[in-house]
Amino acid sequence: MSRHARVSQRSLRFTESVIREMTRLAQQHGAVNLSQGFPDFPAPEPLKAEAARAVAADVNQYAITWGAKRLRDALVAKHERFTGLAFDPEREVTVCCGATECMASTLLALVDPGDEVIVFEPYYENYGPDAILCGAVPRFVRLREPDWGFDPIELAVAFNDRTRAIVVNTPNNPTGKVFSRGELEQIATLCQKWGVVAITDEIYEHILYDGAEHVSLASLPGMRERTVTISGLSKTWSVTGWRIGWCLAPPELTGAIRKVHDFLTVGAPAPLQEAAAAALAMPAEYYTALAAGYRQRRDQLLPVLADAGFRTFPPRGAYYVMTDISGFGFADDVSFARWLVAEVGVAAVPGSSFYSDPSAGSQRLRFHFARRRETLEAAADRLQSLRSRLPARPESLLRG
Ligand SMILES: Cc1ncc(COP(=O)(O)O)c(C=O)c1O
Repeated sequence: MSRHARVSQRSLRFTESVIREMTRLAQQHGAVNLSQGFPDFPAPEPLKAEAARAVAADVNQYAITWGAKRLRDALVAKHERFTGLAFDPEREVTVCCGATECMASTLLALVDPGDEVIVFEPYYENYGPDAILCGAVPRFVRLREPDWGFDPIELAVAFNDRTRAIVVNTPNNPTGKVFSRGELEQIATLCQKWGVVAITDEIYEHILYDGAEHVSLASLPGMRERTVTISGLSKTWSVTGWRIGWCLAPPELTGAIRKVHDFLTVGAPAPLQEAAAAALAMPAEYYTALAAGYRQRRDQLLPVLADAGFRTFPPRGAYYVMTDISGFGFADDVSFARWLVAEVGVAAVPGSSFYSDPSAGSQRLRFHFARRRETLEAAADRLQSLRSRLPARPESLLRG
């Protein structure tokens, strides 16, 4: 008698990404997809030209596992230009397959089973499964509307002897919050008091609005030696499918991250690392234009959502807007999101997928606006009809 093939207990502790399910539903219903956060406009020409050149020049084989030298050199130069912090390209940089792998490799490298990891919520949905994969116990600290601040006392009591790391994502997905210097100082003080490593996901570092300033946690006094700074190509250069990200961290932490990274993926795509090096050498105007483009898109979408009946929480960074859907009378966010994609033709992400306790996000919906003007116009046309399509008894449409 043959035995069943079994899957690990670990893999049973998290579900498939809700965001990718919304993308599938968007395709099924021919909806405008404002769920999964990737741009529908072209990447910068110099980046594409350099990738094509590298492929034509037969840059086909494994790069050095922790990143091609040209890319690491370009990376530390660019980072110093923007933050004033100098990193050693030989001992303090790991290039991975996207910020996603950076976070997974970092947690696997620095956290032991049973250690606690503090995560602000609502959080980018990967952090939950990342913590489970390395056996960590996540401790959630709530960011609260309207400005997504945290309670300093709640944060302080989350730290204890078992705390190994804190994950900080600024500018933040899904809220658009940009952590202030004062907030980061509070985090820094607690990290130093408890001997905790900060892991900062700064993938939206250049997408800022209304004069918001991005402060890299590693630049605060006492934090350079206890911070892993993560970023990548995906968002700043509109190439989410290229899978290039990087971790900057002191040598001891980098040594552990490099080992995990090597055995997980060996390395990031070699020709695209060449293109990444060219991207990082682009002038300051590139970043200014990027942020200005996103500000226009944000300002195009926000009034459309408000007119349709959403309460919006305007973002100060990144390219998402969290909304309050309680005005529509639906029992929960999942039934509303499914109704919206099928009946109105616009896909967004149910807010519950960003919370450890789904009820906390049951009246929230996240839209992203990394879309061409025409795409956002198409979404606006559809959203205009939202109110007239509302079912007579929306509260009866329960999550199915
Ligand atoms: C906060 C955050 N970190 C990381 C990622 C993924 O980055 P990458 O494409 O480099 O893996 C995303 C993508 O949406 C994100 O929102």
